[in-house]
Amino acid sequence: MQALANKTNGRVKAFSSANRAAPRMRAVQCRAQQQQSSNVQQVAAAVLAAAAVCAPAAHAATEVLQSGMDMGLAAGSGAAVVGLGALLVAADPQKRREQQMASTDGDELEAVKTYFNTEGFNRWQKIYGETDEVNKVQLDIRQGHAQTVEKVLGWLDAEGGLAGTSVADAGCGTGSLAIPLALRGAAVSASDISAAMAGEAQKRYEAAVAAGAAAPATPPKFEAMDLESVTGKYHTVTCLDVMIHYPQDKADAMIGHLASLAEQRLIISFAPKTPYYSVLKRIGELFPGPSKATRAYLHAEADVEASLQAAGFKVVKREMTATKFYFSRLLEAVRA
Ligand SMILES: C[S@@+](CC[C@H](N)C(=O)[O-])C[C@H]1O[C@@H](n2cnc3c(N)ncnc32)[C@H](O)[C@@H]1O
Repeated sequence: MQALANKTNGRVKAFSSANRAAPRMRAVQCRAQQQQSSNVQQVAAAVLAAAAVCAPAAHAATEVLQSGMDMGLAAGSGAAVVGLGALLVAADPQKRREQQMASTDGDELEAVKTYFNTEGFNRWQKIYGETDEVNKVQLDIRQGHAQTVEKVLGWLDAEGGLAGTSVADAGCGTGSLAIPLALRGAAVSASDISAAMAGEAQKRYEAAVAAGAAAPATPPKFEAMDLESVTGKYHTVTCLDVMIHYPQDKADAMIGHLASLAEQRLIISFAPKTPYYSVLKRIGELFPGPSKATRAYLHAEADVEASLQAAGFKVVKREMTATKFYFSRLLEAVRA
């Protein structure tokens, strides 16, 4: 994004200096062009920011947006606006989703599972990895997500750690949280609707131990399982950046189920539903992209808190992570 802005600024500066000695009319034209470029930058910034809302849940359409914006701005400010307009008109998010849902007979959970076992797996195991096979947007998401994980670990460490206690990490992904928890001595049961993600988490845990990390007394379990199928009782239940796959009417039951598994503590994160993020998400949805295989749902903090309260939990800690392309609200709740 910065590179794009710099390109545009460069053109404006060149135009200005070439016209320093021109008559007043030229100066007016120059100001008009500067204004146009600045408008384009604002549109670009808004559009790129829009896709960020989707980041926590595999909707990094920003990759598509970014390359689209790059081409538009390189072609000139007027062309960029036209290009953006064409993209917006051509995109029909509802139609795209219908096509995507048709492949799973309208089963949203199945669509999420399919996505995270195929294309989504390829995308997210890179984002949640350490290699440099990521673009700038993905790198930003990686860094934002790492901050969320660090915040959770920081809370837990400050509260005495989890060594010797049981933890269920629901929707564990590639193990970004489950693995450090296990290596801190917790008995971790990690699960994910995607067998590919759970399998990758297992591999990463084994690689960490092979590289010298001390294995816990109880090795972590990584299972392919949707979170509604998780049973048992755990000292702490964690569920990071999974709620974006749940519409509000299903989120209540989802939180209720996670709470029923937690003896003491539930840590959950979600993309916050505020007017600002809602508008940005709507704009982001107008753009096509291979990562848009699933719907993304934002959640009002009051709704999440009400669900937690209904399940007998009270929120004791809150955090927000917001980078350029990643937004995630984090809550820690304990039994009331
Ligand atoms: C954005 S990733 C977050 C992964 C992990 N929690 C983390 O923060 O690193 C979302 C994960 O949730 C999983 N997921 C989505 N819906 C799920 C469900 N109903 N049950 C279990 N896992 C689910 C996906 O397969 C994906 O791995």
